[in-house]
Amino acid sequence: MALWMYEIEGARPLSGRVRISGSKNASLPLLAAALLADTPTTLYNIPVLRDTMQMKRLIEHLGAKVTFSQGVMTIDPSGFKVDNVPYDIMCEMRASFYAMGPMLARLGKARVSQPGGCAIGDRPVDIHLRGFKVLGVRMTRSAGYIHARHKGLVGTRLSLMGPKGTSVGATINVLMAAVLASGTTVIDDAAREPEVIEMISFLKAMGARIEGSGTNTLTVEGVESLRGVEYRVSPDRIEAGTWAVAALVTHGDVVLENVDPVACESTLELLERWGAELSDAGPNAIRVRRGKGTKKPLSIVTEPFPGFPTDVQSVFTTLLALTPGESDLRETIYPERFKHVPELNRMGARIKLEGSRITIKGVAALEGAAVMASDLRAGAALVIAALAAHGTSQVRRIYHVERGYEDLVNKLRGIGAVIRRVEEADVDPGLMVSSNDMYDAQVEELIAPHREVGT
Ligand code: EPZ
Repeated sequence: MALWMYEIEGARPLSGRVRISGSKNASLPLLAAALLADTPTTLYNIPVLRDTMQMKRLIEHLGAKVTFSQGVMTIDPSGFKVDNVPYDIMCEMRASFYAMGPMLARLGKARVSQPGGCAIGDRPVDIHLRGFKVLGVRMTRSAGYIHARHKGLVGTRLSLMGPKGTSVGATINVLMAAVLASGTTVIDDAAREPEVIEMISFLKAMGARIEGSGTNTLTVEGVESLRGVEYRVSPDRIEAGTWAVAALVTHGDVVLENVDPVACESTLELLERWGAELSDAGPNAIRVRRGKGTKKPLSIVTEPFPGFPTDVQSVFTTLLALTPGESDLRETIYPERFKHVPELNRMGARIKLEGSRITIKGVAALEGAAVMASDLRAGAALVIAALAAHGTSQVRRIYHVERGYEDLVNKLRGIGAVIRRVEEADVDPGLMVSSNDMYDAQVEELIAPHREVGT
């Protein structure tokens, strides 16, 4: 597999209009939830990403027939009968664990590779499993797999509180099992993220009976079956925050189109507190500029929704690295989510890492350098830093970034960035990262038509 990087000439103000794509973190569970129905579902506004293509590959592995074109994915679940998720699929993407809810709800059993950790830390699934267990599922573990089976899911009261608060994934996964359980399930300490609210809307459209959307307590009346629906995925709140910061650090003037302001509320409020000038630019469109006056350093803590989202923590680190004064940021969801910090410091940032907290002394400018992405959002922070930096940067290992940002090169070029996608010439074959070249060829085939050749 070839490794690719972005070459970016920085310190150019971004200006123009950029369209926010469908939400990655809403799309992935919705694709799995389509397996709960007896009849086909059509999902609109599905972004073309490594992760959504991986989820397509997973539900096809499980027996569904899937067609995809121009952002529209149709899933016919009638052939869904495979009850296992092998390691080589799970290791590509942890969200594959969303298959477990539908397998338990529809097939009565599941054999799922236990997800490993990743660059942002250990990624346990104990809250998911505890929820399934309370619904009547018996589980054993062997050789890195979870073997689960039950004689009928039975509704009951359960809590999804974990050591670091509640879990978005566990809330969604347990919901997908509970909607087809017999009787009533009350889920206490449910997550309230927009992706959970979206999943509830989708399941209710399919005929599920769920009360409490947007609160921490969900009540589910199990039903016999669900029907396929047509559904449009909402915009990606993390992508919106990412390009908003890009506009600010490049002293630009950018209109974000197709934005859901409610889902981005805490991010937009924090940008205004920093000193950004955000204005209404038409329906679901927000204009982002630096505005007048000095920009203020911030003290931020990441929190579950509606607090400041952990997924924009890294791009805010880039913003604060270029903000006069001393800022600090504490990460409470993924305490190790700071792989972008050493790379930003190589570009001239002055960030000190102490445990799950960083202190940032703002600098006037960053300098272009060769840097390496280690995970999706760390990579995004480095792309933004490269857009702001004086000189040319190379951001390597961009397969991380292309998991979550659709058509990145064309979108950034569309607002004035000078960016090229080129092969990493001096790649040591021993560093090959993907164990699955065929998969990469498949993904490349799907995504390439959306990408201009890196000129
Ligand atoms: C979702 O991950 C998102 N991924 C993450 O975005 C996001 O950072 C996270 O929610 C928090 O908002 C998708 O939606 C695909 P959690 P998820 O379960 O569901 C701990 C991105 O950049 N935990 O809410 O896996 C966990 O370790 C990705 O797009 C347990 O202890 O997150 C973490 O500390 C990264 N036991 C905290 O809870 C469990 O069983 C929140 O995790 C599950 C989670």
